[in-house]
Amino acid sequence: MPVITNIADLKRLHRARTPAMFYDYAESGSWTEQTFRDNSSDFADIRLRQKVAVNMEGRSTASTMIGQDVAMPVALAPIGLLGMQSADGEIKAARAAEKFGVPFTLSTMSICSIEDVAAHTTKPFWFQVYTLREEDFMRRLIERARAANCSALVITVDLQIMGQRHKDIRHGLSAPPKLTAKSILDMMTKVEWGLGMLRTKRRFFGNIVGHAEGVDDPSSLASWTAQAFDPTLDWAKIAKLKEMWGGKVILKGILDPEDARMAVKTGADAIIVSNHGGRQLDGALSSIRMLDPILQAVGNDIEVHLDSGIRSGQDVLKALAMGARGTYIGRAFVNGLGAMGEAGVTRALEVIHKELDTTMALCGERNVNDLGRDILLIPRTFAGDWA
Ligand code: GLV
Repeated sequence: MPVITNIADLKRLHRARTPAMFYDYAESGSWTEQTFRDNSSDFADIRLRQKVAVNMEGRSTASTMIGQDVAMPVALAPIGLLGMQSADGEIKAARAAEKFGVPFTLSTMSICSIEDVAAHTTKPFWFQVYTLREEDFMRRLIERARAANCSALVITVDLQIMGQRHKDIRHGLSAPPKLTAKSILDMMTKVEWGLGMLRTKRRFFGNIVGHAEGVDDPSSLASWTAQAFDPTLDWAKIAKLKEMWGGKVILKGILDPEDARMAVKTGADAIIVSNHGGRQLDGALSSIRMLDPILQAVGNDIEVHLDSGIRSGQDVLKALAMGARGTYIGRAFVNGLGAMGEAGVTRALEVIHKELDTTMALCGERNVNDLGRDILLIPRTFAGDWA
């Protein structure tokens, strides 16, 4: 068993053990990847205030997200194609999250279907939807999530059209991968990955194939997105979706204070301040930079969560201390999944938890719910001076 001290260790193993097509799918941002890079480097610009001689006993990271108990306010973000990072990847990640006591969000673009993940877990998970053109398909998808007892609907609002990630085009990204000389050569060096894939039947987009019509190539994320996603999405449609679901709703992909105020009007339970991990609008500001202006715009009117850029428990602490009520990890747990399957996702959660807990202690804090700005050193120029 390799020694894993941090997420970067898992990332190295992920790269070595998973075909480049899927590793690159996870590790890419759109176009120049400026926003993708800023998401992490802006976290690094925030420093911490050391506090000593404070009793550190009895620390707790337990909290709630949308009223649900969590062992720490760190959910697993919806990520497409997990089942290509490791065979049955969605089931493995959902099980690791369940055991750890944090929410797992299943992506519409998953390999394992909603029903399959529900059959292999014991607690409700969250389900993410894009807004699709075909109302009938959308309705059935929501029905399926309800039948599977999902406890929240996460509506992605920043992907009516997909940002271009150059590597996906070069690899001809698809699930399952198309057999070309290059992909075969690559897969031959990823022996454990290949054996896992041979052993499972789950190699297609499980929520789509057999459920949606009129898509030329349902194995291609790009062609499915271009044909199926609803370019006419607006706030009225989001409100309609919320009504169709009837349960807890989280709007994912808010990066602007005005949009945040619109989101409050829909009556959603939470928003996720997010730029889709730097995969959509390259050139947009990082999530952590936009957190403060958004918090100022919505106050306590809605629960504000954050994703994009979190690679450590220290990043989680910074987002929470700035005022987010919850956070999400994406690549950090995908690195674990690609490196070591379910055990790798568990390890990623353990790493993040330990970093969060230790940092809390060294900042003189015992309860994750009490974190405030007093423990942060934020550069005066952090918000930027944009015209
Ligand atoms: C899909 O949401 C993606 O970012 O690839």
